[in-house]
Amino acid sequence: MKRTLVRVLLVTMLPLLLSSPAVATDDPHGTLNSIDCGKCHIAHSTLGDILINATDSLVSTLCLSCHTPGGWVNMTKIMSSSQKASPGVSGSSHAWDVSATNASRGAQTPQSAALLDHLTASGRVTCATCHDPHKNTTPPFLRLDNSADALCLDCHRARNMNSVRTYTGSTLSHPVGAALPSTATYHNPPRDVNGSPQPSDGNTTNDLKLLTGGIVSCTSCHGVHYKDSNSGTVDRP
Ligand code: HEC
Ligand code: HEC
Ligand code: HEC
Ligand code: HEC
Ligand code: HEC
Repeated sequence: MKRTLVRVLLVTMLPLLLSSPAVATDDPHGTLNSIDCGKCHIAHSTLGDILINATDSLVSTLCLSCHTPGGWVNMTKIMSSSQKASPGVSGSSHAWDVSATNASRGAQTPQSAALLDHLTASGRVTCATCHDPHKNTTPPFLRLDNSADALCLDCHRARNMNSVRTYTGSTLSHPVGAALPSTATYHNPPRDVNGSPQPSDGNTTNDLKLLTGGIVSCTSCHGVHYKDSNSGTVDRP
């Protein structure tokens, strides 16, 4: 559905939906934590970003307002704007509130409607581009199943290097979608910081995660949140 149509529908329909007991969001964004539509939406007439219940109407402000210490009962999934990544500078969480197009990071506007319809009105990536806060059918609230990198590659398709290549002079990337050869030459099984096969250092957050069949993917090397880029330390919220 086109975003403008969603907006028109939303402005007319939302007050009705918000007061209907027939619709609900999936846990843990539902009854388990006493979260109803009105915690996240305002039912009256400001045309902000999808009637979002945040002073600046930004989706990320709404998410972070609960995902902060004491932001909601039993909140353990803590996140803050200071964690937003800027490569080589700081941050431990994939960037948000940034333009979806960034040539130097190999990012383009997503192709799948599931993501494309959920950029902000000004075409920026936000929490709800990757997450659908209503539906937890693909945990954790993901818009696309990322078990084979579909989510990552929708935007970062320029880095979908799935064959061995000859250097052409342009910036390329580490191969993905290819199996790690099963020999010690290729460090298979991968080593931990102590030089022994993982997870020998007892820190599972620094392990390379290969897909079924030993396939290397973006998420073999990259995490999305709570990553400190130091394999000697344990990553945590
Ligand atoms: C945890 C927060 C949260 C809760 C609870 C929530 N919403 Fe949403 N909703 C959002 C966000 C964020 C968006 C914007 C998504 C985007 O960027 O497209 C949204 C968007 C929508 C949309 C536009 C279509 C879409 O999926 O993007 C509708 C309709 C909607 N919500 C209805 C509801 C109703 C009805 C309820 C209660 C059953 C509800 N929401 C509960 C956060 C929430
Ligand atoms: C009204 C409060 C509230 C808001 C607003 C909210 N969340 Fe949550 N969220 C929660 C709670 C409570 C949990 C469960 C926390 C826990 O297990 O420690 C949770 C859990 C999650 C999880 C983990 C789900 C799982 O299966 O473990 C994700 C992902 C998530 N939220 C994303 C978002 C995003 C994205 C937004 C903004 C669109 C958002 N949340 C807004 C309260 C909220
Ligand atoms: C580029 C896509 C993307 C963006 C943007 C994004 N997330 Fe996530 N998020 C993911 C993926 C993929 C996972 C699951 C993988 C993981 O946990 O490492 C995840 C996991 C989570 C979890 C569960 C973490 C856990 O330990 O269980 C929470 C909570 C969450 N995201 C909240 C947010 C909030 C809040 C924002 C915005 C401030 C946000 N996400 C932005 C892709 C994204
Ligand atoms: C909606 C589009 C989109 C999706 C989906 C997406 N990215 Fe990104 N990604 C971007 C953009 C745009 C940037 C550039 C952010 C910046 O630095 O301004 C970026 C930056 C990055 C960076 C550099 C660090 C940073 O945050 O700036 C890494 C690493 C990365 N993405 C990995 C991933 C992985 C892994 C996934 C899948 C879990 C993923 N991305 C999904 C758009 C996306
Ligand atoms: C074999 C491990 C590995 C794989 C696989 C991998 N990356 Fe990376 N990536 C890295 C490392 C290491 C860096 C940091 C490089 C640096 O600091 O110069 C990095 C940096 C990045 C950056 C930020 C810096 C830049 O040059 O833009 C982005 C964005 C990124 N990777 C996206 C991806 C995506 C998307 C995939 C999947 C298509 C992927 N990576 C697969 C290891 C990997």
